[in-house]
Amino acid sequence: MSTEMTTRGYLTAALVPLGEQWKRMRRILTTKVVSQAKHQWFYAKRTEEADHLDGGPGLEEEEHVYAIFTILHYLYSFCASDFVPCLRWKFDLDGHEKAMKKVVEIIDKYHNPIIEERIRQWRIGFKKEIEDLLDVFIILKDGASNPPLSTNEINAQIREIMIATVDNSSNAVEWAIAEMINQPEILEKAIEELDRVVGKERLVQESDFSQLNYIKACAREAFRLHPIAPFNVPHVSISDTTVANYFIPKGSHVLLSRLGLGRNPKVWPDEPLKFKPERHLREDGSEVVLTENDFRFISFSTGRRGCLGVTLGTSMTVMLFARLLQGFTWTAPPNETKIDLSKAEDSLALAKPLIAVAKPRLAEHVYRNL
Ligand code: HEM
Repeated sequence: MSTEMTTRGYLTAALVPLGEQWKRMRRILTTKVVSQAKHQWFYAKRTEEADHLDGGPGLEEEEHVYAIFTILHYLYSFCASDFVPCLRWKFDLDGHEKAMKKVVEIIDKYHNPIIEERIRQWRIGFKKEIEDLLDVFIILKDGASNPPLSTNEINAQIREIMIATVDNSSNAVEWAIAEMINQPEILEKAIEELDRVVGKERLVQESDFSQLNYIKACAREAFRLHPIAPFNVPHVSISDTTVANYFIPKGSHVLLSRLGLGRNPKVWPDEPLKFKPERHLREDGSEVVLTENDFRFISFSTGRRGCLGVTLGTSMTVMLFARLLQGFTWTAPPNETKIDLSKAEDSLALAKPLIAVAKPRLAEHVYRNL
């Protein structure tokens, strides 16, 4: 399957046909940006970010996050011109094009000056050391023959990575904590695991992850029960194929229902609608992972178009989740016994953003070291 949908195409707009562009970018991202080697290399950066647990967003951060989430909204929404491409250039029937341009402008307002200045610093030799992903994009060469990425391509990739990374982890963690406040016995088990594996004298580190099976089972359960979007990103079949009893002709737009998969009672017979992390634990105690390659639900998806950021996405999700649970005792707000788990009308997010009481549960010096 391959994807050439309008919204994504708009984001990665470039001079070569999208199929070629996608192949080139996917190759670059896989080998140079999100490779295992780079992941190890960025360990210190991730730890630094994870230590920024305190402090709220300022006005600029809020505008930036708003723009990213608006793009995501359109990325997942139905767009007539995805099915009748000629509509895209002549009429903007859905108004998506206009709305996207507006928010991309907001993002460019924040990103472009930083990107352009960094490119300049490399060009004049002021900058010589790779310190973050932007540096990686600026200096990388795609094989021996291809020049480095153009400024436009770097802009598009930085945007794309922001969009790809921001929603899944936060949505899963928000839902998981909400569910766990309503089922305190699950919260207790998670805390018990954290205290046993990590203790209370230091914060969770990535090296602890392999032993945090219950925490990962809770995150996995959040992905199963509360995916970020009802469908996966649309794919197009590149040849005739048959899946189960269905014949899918070449060129079909294929959408997989993430809720249909994750809540299917035939696959999840034990109370499929209940948040029950135990269903992901194996009797032999083998390690729980957030990926799901058998499509029993969709977390990172799989195959040619599967997520490129599995390792980073897993680290981000587990770190965010584990530190929030380790650092605070979570309860419903005063005068409320339960968190309202209704979902929003126009998305699968919580209808009301999670509001809960977070009481520090570690000694002060553990937070002070951040
Ligand atoms: C918990 C975190 C994440 C989850 C659950 C997640 C999930 C997904 C899913 C479901 C897809 C669509 C796959 C398909 O349609 O078959 C996807 C695509 C993608 N993801 Fe992630 N993702 C996460 C984090 C990240 C991160 C951290 C990065 C990059 C650094 C990333 C980069 C991408 C890219 C580039 C694609 C598009 C791949 C393509 O179209 O070929 N993701 N992701």
